[in-house]
Amino acid sequence: MRICCIGAGYVGGPTMTMVARKCPDIRVDVVDVSAARIAAWNSDNLPVFEPNLDGLVREVRGKNLFFSTDIEECIDKADIVFISVNTPTKTYGYGAGSASDLSYVEACSRTIARASKTGKIVVEKSTMPVRTADVIKTILASSGRKFQVLSNPEFLAEGTAVRDLESPDRVLIGGDEDSEEGRRAIETLASVYARWVPEERIIKTNLWSSELSKLTANAFLAQRISSINAISALCEATGADVDQVAKAVGSDSRIGSSFLKSSVGYGGSCFQKDLLNLIYLCEHFNLPQVAQYWRGVVEMNAFQKKRFSSNVVEGLFRNISGKRLAIFGFAFKENTNDTRESPAIDICKDFLSEHAKLAFYDPKVSKAQICADLGIEENDPRVEFCDSPYAAAEGAHAIVLLTHWDEFKKLDYAKIRKSMTTPAWIFDGRNCLDHRLLIGLGFLVRGIGKGNLS
Ligand code: UDX
Ligand code: ADP
Repeated sequence: MRICCIGAGYVGGPTMTMVARKCPDIRVDVVDVSAARIAAWNSDNLPVFEPNLDGLVREVRGKNLFFSTDIEECIDKADIVFISVNTPTKTYGYGAGSASDLSYVEACSRTIARASKTGKIVVEKSTMPVRTADVIKTILASSGRKFQVLSNPEFLAEGTAVRDLESPDRVLIGGDEDSEEGRRAIETLASVYARWVPEERIIKTNLWSSELSKLTANAFLAQRISSINAISALCEATGADVDQVAKAVGSDSRIGSSFLKSSVGYGGSCFQKDLLNLIYLCEHFNLPQVAQYWRGVVEMNAFQKKRFSSNVVEGLFRNISGKRLAIFGFAFKENTNDTRESPAIDICKDFLSEHAKLAFYDPKVSKAQICADLGIEENDPRVEFCDSPYAAAEGAHAIVLLTHWDEFKKLDYAKIRKSMTTPAWIFDGRNCLDHRLLIGLGFLVRGIGKGNLS
């Protein structure tokens, strides 16, 4: 069997590496239009930072895993073709700001139709709006050959991709359950995962349930974060501590304790895009109340980011003009170099519009990426990029912690305190530092949803 995956991004790269690792008898080709991305996958400097991914790639690359720009040939030789390209929110025309832009998916479908001399199983791996499979099917049908379209959404989270792929809570495969060919295609794909995933974790559904389940899972996860973030605002007003509330609430086994960590807001390539997509679908199907319900989750996230940046300005005597702020972390979460939809982007833009000076430190995000995200030049006099958190904090009025990188918990804050301007503030946007200890060292500390701090 041969597999081809179109799209060598955060999803396609790690997922196919795991498939190749677990199925030594299957040749896996990962292809992409970006020659630079493919070259990076073939180098020692992978385009995606994920814990434990480097070693895994080294084990299988050149054996049964290949990265290539030879898109059409790899598609033609494959039995199963995964589509793992980006589906960003549309920025223009009909559905702008909420519908997903399917132009990359459409382009892939046309390429598959053109390149395939025989019929194949085509798998939607990227998150797609419900009924996208219809679009793919229609384009493929025009080739005159027989294709089966399956939906097999990826549930891995960045930063834990290798662990999630190795031991997924579930694998979801949606297909045409009503036809013999459809059922056979579902079983063929299931047999690939069955090499390492217990059978009871492989869920088989119809196409539309599978597509909608992915959107729903992300909507539920984002909703939990917005729920606890909403409560964090009330904690600050009442003197309650959001971490204590989350522990007490999450101890109820019906609620559960995961995804209740209050923060500056969720980021990442999925939550915002998928929620907007869900809202768009509800509106399209004339369900305005359902759309409004989910819109609340998006609005709460925007409110939380704004609330945090105004708390910083408020703390620094309502004036941050010309003040140096040390920005600890820019990635949307720890253990990734990804900044898509990172809350740091909006928050830092707020600071720049208040004329602050920003000194950045993130262990994995490049200067070029931060400047691109903020829409500024690399030599902008308002920003500085530091090699260590200590350098960023030197002379700063405040530390603003935006990403939960482990190294921020282990710093010598007594030393940092001495190098800062006084009064020295720490705004802990992830509630990951020891606030009592910091207050003891003379810092003024503000966390998220912490009513009783100094
Ligand atoms: C998410 C889903 O978890 C994954 O299943 C799906 O396939 C893709 O989208 P990802 O965006 O990579 O994964 O990371 P995730 O761990 O879900 O974090 C998303 C955002 O929520 C991050 O900004 C994170 O910091 C934030 N978050 C997460 C919180 O603020 N609080 C929490 O309790 C958990
Ligand atoms: P994700 O997080 O979903 O993996 P990324 O943006 O990281 O998204 O990766 C998507 C990849 O898909 C990019 O590397 C992009 O170059 C590639 N891509 C987009 N359209 C096509 C296409 N028509 N053919 C091949 N590759 C494509």
